Amino acid sequence: MLTLGIETSCDETAVAVVEDGARVLSNVILSQTEHTRFGGVVPEIASRAHVAAITQICEEALEGAGAALSEIELVAATRGPGLVGCLLVGLNFAKGLALAGNMDFAAVNHLEGHIAANFLNQKSPIGRHVSLVISGGHTLLVEVRGFGEYRLLGRTRDDAVGEAFDKVAKLLGLGYPGGAKIDRLSDDGDPSAIRFPRPMGKSADYDFSFSGLKTAVSLHWRALSEVERRETVADVAASFQEAAVDILVSKTVRAARELGVSLITLSGGVAANRRLREAFIDELSRMNVALHAPEAKLCTDNAAMIAAAGHFQFLRQGPSSLNEDADPSLRLA
Ligand code: KG4
Ligand code: ZN
Repeated sequence: MLTLGIETSCDETAVAVVEDGARVLSNVILSQTEHTRFGGVVPEIASRAHVAAITQICEEALEGAGAALSEIELVAATRGPGLVGCLLVGLNFAKGLALAGNMDFAAVNHLEGHIAANFLNQKSPIGRHVSLVISGGHTLLVEVRGFGEYRLLGRTRDDAVGEAFDKVAKLLGLGYPGGAKIDRLSDDGDPSAIRFPRPMGKSADYDFSFSGLKTAVSLHWRALSEVERRETVADVAASFQEAAVDILVSKTVRAARELGVSLITLSGGVAANRRLREAFIDELSRMNVALHAPEAKLCTDNAAMIAAAGHFQFLRQGPSSLNEDADPSLRLA
């Protein structure tokens, strides 16, 4: 069964074709560059850019998959969470397509999409495990019991971890979006140069907090001279990254241990971070717990994950109504 996935919740216009919820036949992503000079996503510009691009991206996805529109059985689109104007573009495009082509329609939760990304191009079905969803907008620790069955273990109480990466990158003059830049620059720095705090790192719950860490980096940076900044920027980046990674790894690994699961999955843009993956592998080498994270292109926003989640949702509960509306603050459970 072929599903066409559509994702427009933020600043990526993405369309993909996925077979049986797992095999990615095409995965086209247009990352909008219009926002770079503003240092963050401008919602109105993002919606307009989605409108301008979506038809072309959809055609490219079908062509890349070698599929005709008539072969698509299900059209799945993100309905939330995200920027409402952006969501509406993809959602309405999908509804129009489904209606015109007499195809089924699935309105998908973006966060469920991120979790489902872990099972793309894999043979194993979605079983019980602990999943860490870390992006520019979200930081969630979830117990997944199977597709569609989630228990929220913890979430950020302030900034999302990706937001902290982006803000620190901006402070250090690395530009936007900054997560990948901090990741790369940290290769040249000493992660133990500065001992930044690990807020809530040892708290008994599974919640997170990144705003204090961001402030600590900012206070440290402001106290440096121009020369000191130039000489230590890589150390600051690496030390910040180490603190963020420490918090994420320790809480997630503790959750896996306490819940007795044997798999941890990672998703969302920050899951592409190389130091994070390395730290998880190190920590888990002493435990009987496996780690799975999608390749980088499936960690950041994409439509293959929406097609996968749409497929499994359709199998579980049938098609969505065409009256299903966008929900900018849609929750997971
Ligand atoms: O999942 P995503 O593409 O969009 C959201 O749903 O937010 O995630 C984007 C976030 C940004 O904050 C970006 O800086 C961060 O993921 N990111 C990274 C890396 N690549 C992207 N953060 C740390 N290390 C990376 N390699
Ligand atoms: Zn996302």
